[in-house]
Amino acid sequence: MIDHWARKRQILMALADENFVSGEILAQLLGISRTAIANHISALEEYGVDIYSVKGKGYKLVNLVYLVDEEKLTAATHNRCFYFNELGSTNAFLLKHMDELKSGDICVSEYQSAGRGRRGRTWFSPYGCHLYTSIFWSFPQGMAQAMGLSLVVACSLVKVLEAFGVSGLGVKWPNDIYLNHKKLAGVLVEMSGQTDSECNVVIGIGINMAMPNAQGDAIGQPWSDLSELEHKPSKTDLVIALQKQLFTDLRLFEAQGLVAFMVRWQAADLFLNQAVILSMASNHVSGICKGIDDKGAILLETTQGLEAYVGGEISLRSAS
Ligand code: BTN
Repeated sequence: MIDHWARKRQILMALADENFVSGEILAQLLGISRTAIANHISALEEYGVDIYSVKGKGYKLVNLVYLVDEEKLTAATHNRCFYFNELGSTNAFLLKHMDELKSGDICVSEYQSAGRGRRGRTWFSPYGCHLYTSIFWSFPQGMAQAMGLSLVVACSLVKVLEAFGVSGLGVKWPNDIYLNHKKLAGVLVEMSGQTDSECNVVIGIGINMAMPNAQGDAIGQPWSDLSELEHKPSKTDLVIALQKQLFTDLRLFEAQGLVAFMVRWQAADLFLNQAVILSMASNHVSGICKGIDDKGAILLETTQGLEAYVGGEISLRSAS
């Protein structure tokens, strides 16, 4: 018997040319009943896919749905790729299986029921709308070697997206990627089982590709996605390019540290030389952003002189 995700993917493929397709045609194409089609459509809606359903016309996708071609993905990398239609969280999956992983192994899911964002936030992950992926990396020299890692990942993301023709990108310390000054992608680095001699990390990346209306309305900050791009990237190609770029950049980071990324970071830094406010819990510091140091701390020129700040709870806001 055909798996329910295979059916849903067939339906999404049939709707991919952006026209209405009737329930009857879909039923004929897939060789199942119209009721079964209607059930799959409502299930897809529950997974967050926006679908117009008009009596007498049928169904039509509101946004493009991006799905990974698993065969192409696995053939393109030398690492292991764990691919799912649905999962709690790609980060949680790799963290759970850390002992069996090698640096560069990745996990990709089309939907996350418990996607994790920074500061304990939820990362809403509707089916096939965005890219949700994680990569495992082991730093042989321990935690100190991983300091500044999230900035490296932000640099990798910018490089990959630029290669796909995205312009107007920028980074916001420590690791958000902005497109036209609105958040396009986020990075969540989680560590586990590190000892003095080894530090294992899972780097989770979420890139907005085609934001469904309901999700867009629920996000409490300006966001962007890749839907305006003239040439939309294939999600498979994007994951492959990202895995390769991360592999190269993480090797470079291991060998040379953050110094090797200073120029790339500075070129993309949205707040460089701007007046900013750093918020750390109830504490706020005003200053001029002077970039980063070689440990990944943000440098602020304050009334007290040049100060460096690190830590996951720091937020950065333009003072203007
Ligand atoms: C942020 O809050 O900006 C970071 C968001 C990171 C989301 C990605 S999606 C893939 C990976 N799995 C998760 O559960 N979270 C990360």
